[in-house]
Amino acid sequence: MTSEEIKEVKNIGSWFRLKNLIGLKNNGRSFLYDLLKSQEDTVFKLYMGEETTYASDYVSAKYLYEEEYVFREPFIGKYFNTNMLGGRKPSMFCNGEDHATKKADTMKVLEYRMEKISLKDLNDVIESEMKAIDVTKGKGNNFEACLENVAKCVADSLILGKSLHNRDDWKDWFDSSLKMFNFHPWNFGEAADRDRCLNAMKQTPTVQNLDKILPETTQTMEGETFELMHNVHFNCTPVLSWLMISCIARFTDSLTEDERQSLRDEASLLFREETDSTFEERLSKSEKIDTFILEIIRLNTPHLAGTYGRARKDFVMESKTGRYQIHKDDLLCTFVYAIHRDEEVFEDPFKLKMTRDRKIIENQNVCFGSPLVMEPTVNNHKCPADRVMINVLKMFLAHFTRCDVNITSDVTCSYTSSERLACTDEPLVVEKFVYKE
Ligand code: HEM
Repeated sequence: MTSEEIKEVKNIGSWFRLKNLIGLKNNGRSFLYDLLKSQEDTVFKLYMGEETTYASDYVSAKYLYEEEYVFREPFIGKYFNTNMLGGRKPSMFCNGEDHATKKADTMKVLEYRMEKISLKDLNDVIESEMKAIDVTKGKGNNFEACLENVAKCVADSLILGKSLHNRDDWKDWFDSSLKMFNFHPWNFGEAADRDRCLNAMKQTPTVQNLDKILPETTQTMEGETFELMHNVHFNCTPVLSWLMISCIARFTDSLTEDERQSLRDEASLLFREETDSTFEERLSKSEKIDTFILEIIRLNTPHLAGTYGRARKDFVMESKTGRYQIHKDDLLCTFVYAIHRDEEVFEDPFKLKMTRDRKIIENQNVCFGSPLVMEPTVNNHKCPADRVMINVLKMFLAHFTRCDVNITSDVTCSYTSSERLACTDEPLVVEKFVYKE
């Protein structure tokens, strides 16, 4: 076959479709990866509730970044949109004008908030919430809930201008919004969870000032409040807390003692206030911590497959293994787990390497929906909070290096658990957690 030839995408799953779903349930993303490795093409099809074409290298993934080739649908979100946001579609699932309006408003709110809250302020929130972690109440089994609380307070402070400390309300909302089928004709159950969170949001500085922050928006203020709720409750809190778990687990199981010490040393420089530099300057120069976080979001990307898009038209998808015919209405998805483990890009790709070139990770890392080097705009679906989230994780890790911790659970991540995504196979149990200055 010549390199000009156009191939049809091969379905590599079992003819018995349920077997694919069971494989995913039992073996998580490693099921997909093993299938991929058993054949030559990096673009392949598999039945996953609907026949899906996976783009699993950085060449083919680019067709999903912008709206020229694909359009968004709620996909699986259609089941839980009603619970989450009373049926309102967040910008992530929108296209064209609708997407541009909602995304522009989110970006303006974020810009406004970043003028009000500095990284140093966010650092203070992280520090005080980590100091407040008390694992004695739950005998160490409540540690992940404590981290969720840290993540929630960061999200609230960053986006809403005030910590709401309502982790349990958020958790009720999050769990109920992931239920596929439910029935709530009146304000009970999931609808009550949603309304409780919405009412708390209405009392925050950001929501109370929305008419000043977005004077020209064509959205209703209620609509933008739902969008902010989606940002805090869905886009930020759970994802950030999973990444915090990954930071702790990989700090523990993937580094040598010398590497751990070098991160502690860099963290102590970051927190040394009697220097000539600002906190922000010191944070940007914390290169070892930066490398560690970039490796975490490469190896432990919370969504191992995604972004999704539906083909707008017939087109030819180029990939590392050839050219493939995509048909209008095909469901496409990036296979992030494989893109982040491409051995031609990352030497020894399964290893967390503190010596890895940060520029290479940034070029190929799609943890935030498209490569880190791509700017988020109203014309693409890149996460608008990518940079600030990396900084938040850097500050979190720096604080964590100061803590005296006794982890009693196994921190291994085999990527085989469909429930735990990518962090640890088992919930993290921490029987001692003391923040030391
Ligand atoms: C570590 C935390 C976060 C991670 C890993 C993350 C990751 C992502 C990813 C992968 C996407 C693309 C989804 C898709 O294409 O279907 C996305 C989109 C988005 N994220 Fe984030 N996100 C994080 C935090 C946040 C925060 C704090 C906000 C608050 C403003 C936010 C707002 C958004 C929005 C509005 C979109 C939709 C963008 C669009 O469709 O144009 N994210 N994020």
